[in-house]
Amino acid sequence: MLRIAINGYGRIGRSLLRSIYESGYRQHFQVVAINELSDIDTMSYLTRYDTTHGRFPKPVSVDGSRLVIGEDVVQCFSEKDPANIDWQSLNIDLLLECSGSFSSRYDAQKYLDSGAPRLLLSQPASADVDATIVYGFNEKDISATHTIVSAASCTTNCVIPIFDALQSLCGLEHGTTQTIHSAMNDQPVIDAYHTKDLRLTRAALSSIIPVDTGLAKGIARLMPMLSGKIECNAVRVPTLNVSVIDMVVRTSTEVTVEQVNAALKEAAMGKYAGIVGFTQEPHASVDFNHDPRSVIIDGTQTKVVDGRMVKLLCWFDNEWGYANRMLDVASHWGAILERTSLTNE
Ligand SMILES: NC(=O)c1ccc[n+]([C@@H]2O[C@H](COP(=O)([O-])OP(=O)(O)OC[C@H]3O[C@@H](n4cnc5c(N)ncnc54)[C@H](OP(=O)(O)O)[C@@H]3O)[C@@H](O)[C@H]2O)c1
Repeated sequence: MLRIAINGYGRIGRSLLRSIYESGYRQHFQVVAINELSDIDTMSYLTRYDTTHGRFPKPVSVDGSRLVIGEDVVQCFSEKDPANIDWQSLNIDLLLECSGSFSSRYDAQKYLDSGAPRLLLSQPASADVDATIVYGFNEKDISATHTIVSAASCTTNCVIPIFDALQSLCGLEHGTTQTIHSAMNDQPVIDAYHTKDLRLTRAALSSIIPVDTGLAKGIARLMPMLSGKIECNAVRVPTLNVSVIDMVVRTSTEVTVEQVNAALKEAAMGKYAGIVGFTQEPHASVDFNHDPRSVIIDGTQTKVVDGRMVKLLCWFDNEWGYANRMLDVASHWGAILERTSLTNE
């Protein structure tokens, strides 16, 4: 049993807790504490009712500063500064950092300084963290001595298994990806001020909005041979959840649609079983809401031009798929710690 805490109880933080109770993960994790800037009554309400993922599978109530989830009790805090929480006294093995506010080693170190033994970040981080992990691809890189690990981004988790399979089939020379991503909490419902990005001032429900993406950097970190060879764009669209990546790559050797689909299907059934899916049904994005896989390739949309230009369409539930991969990484890390007798149980 791994003792964990969640910092930042938004879309990803709440998906983590829900997944622990919904998908059999409860036996691996004990959620000891949650820190979130909102008040505990709102946290309880948004745990019980979720527009995207439905009602919580267990009764949830509030007891003072604690959330009561079924038989379990979770201590809650509302502190912006990690140093204001005595993480050491919580005796946790791992803190799942999902606030989006701490992406550098320097910032994340504040948690370690106030007693959290290890951090798993729900976003890409600076290059000096101990590892960036796309579960299924490189989780073997985690070690018992690591303290700050990033679970990469939802888009990196989507793309890397596909690029890995294509690299083995036909080699990758260069390419582009276009992420079509559902709306997020950093966008306003109607036009409003935003501190960093003029495009994020625009009403989320009225436009397709180009946004910055660090996906090219994420790909280069995980697959250095593709550094400088893949360019990535992203737009946000007015849907609640589920995103898609439209990618075009130039391959080293000639392939056919049938060969590409066969290789991706094989990856979905073999090396990446449970992480990658393959479908040839006529789907719409909503069909993948609450899908725990990192990516589902839509084989009906695979195209090959002139033998060496491959175009793919890849679906992913940006919330649920990602939260489940984070738990996979946490679980794997926990198993390594248990083998080295470093857990707090
Ligand atoms: N949503 C996705 O599809 C997705 C997928 C993969 C990765 N991610 C990454 O995961 C991170 C969180 O994304 P999200 O979509 O879950 O965002 P979100 O819904 O806005 O959740 C973040 C939560 O953390 C709270 N928070 C902010 N600063 C905090 C602090 N110092 N201590 C404790 N809580 C704090 C926020 O409160 P306030 O709202 O009051 O600031 C908010 O409730 C981001 O880095 C994002 O890029 C998101």
